[in-house]
Amino acid sequence: LTLRRRNGIPFSVTTQTSSPPLGTVAAATQLATPYICVDRDLLWENLDQLAAYAEQHGLKLRPHAKTHKSRQIAQWQLERGAIGLTVAKPSEAEVFAEICDDLLLAYPIVDAARAERVARLVQRVDMKVAVDSAFAVATLSRAAAAAGSTLGVLVDLDVGLHRTGVQNASAALELAQLVERSPHVELRGLFCYPGHIWEPAAAQESALNAVAEQLEATLDLWKEHGLNAEIVSGGSTPTAYQSHLARHFTEIRPGTYPFNDMNTVLGGYMALDRCAARIVVTVVSDAVPGQVVIDAGSKTLAADRCILGPDLGFGHVVEYPDARITKLSEEHGQVDVSRCAARPAIGERVSVIPNHICPCVNLQDRVWLKVADDQYEPLTVDARGRLT
Ligand SMILES: Cc1ncc(COP(=O)(O)O)c(C=O)c1O
Repeated sequence: LTLRRRNGIPFSVTTQTSSPPLGTVAAATQLATPYICVDRDLLWENLDQLAAYAEQHGLKLRPHAKTHKSRQIAQWQLERGAIGLTVAKPSEAEVFAEICDDLLLAYPIVDAARAERVARLVQRVDMKVAVDSAFAVATLSRAAAAAGSTLGVLVDLDVGLHRTGVQNASAALELAQLVERSPHVELRGLFCYPGHIWEPAAAQESALNAVAEQLEATLDLWKEHGLNAEIVSGGSTPTAYQSHLARHFTEIRPGTYPFNDMNTVLGGYMALDRCAARIVVTVVSDAVPGQVVIDAGSKTLAADRCILGPDLGFGHVVEYPDARITKLSEEHGQVDVSRCAARPAIGERVSVIPNHICPCVNLQDRVWLKVADDQYEPLTVDARGRLT
């Protein structure tokens, strides 16, 4: 209870939570929309299937935690044999360092403050960072020296996405040699992200073969110069079950696979019924003919369009597959229901599979795990908003 004063008159404000507090089991009707519902059995199935694939092919699994940002889900990945985790930023690394002693930071670190945070984690964690510049190597080396630690380094090679990564084998050699000469950093291997490969799984062989050839050229050159890559890190969700075709990968870093989303479905990487996360929303208006409005806009569904397949709008409405979420404002989602034989009624709850689940999870303090019929447990999004 808080006392505040408005126009000189004291009044009381009760702090209300919109959903039941952590530690409770709730029924669906007790949960305020919009909320993310995660089917725990499906999630476990997704984790089990990829863990089995990785084991079968002798690949280590280092899932990217940026998708779920949850220590509990990371624990489930580690219990199923993941050797460690991937993170995007130092603040995310700090969250996961509490439960995992083997982290890879898959992001350029080029400022002293971030490098210091990473270097401090070495006391608890086998910490590795992917780099693509001499600037990053110097920054990490200085920070690790100041912390009295040694940071592991992977050289990032651009294999086709053209986002980060040195551009060829000789540039990778030059950077690796610089790492070898620099104090307080240790060359641990090679890194790439095949995020340009969006073909259906059955058509990925030649693209993954091209990745393998680029890795091979680099690894051969390193070997000629006496350098060894203990780790060759790659992987994504679209290529997850074809990762063995990249041949030289020792480990893979898929992120989206615990949940899946419409991009995963439309790319043909996983069936719709393997999407473990849905956003439950309420229809709040049907005033405009041919349209309903849901209580989820860009602050819930994020604004990503479908990368693959026809543009189906801002997510798939599970109960009304002919509906199209055509426009988002921050808190309103406009849904074209003109093609639906039956239309959702005002006040009705429906569930949406978003185009891209990762930013949606980052917009919630918690997700609700479906643990049994109409029983939901809260799960904190521990690294929510950890963007630094
Ligand atoms: C460097 C890096 N590695 C791994 C991943 C995981 O890929 P996906 O989201 O396809 O699971 C990402 C995703 O953005 C990434 O940027």
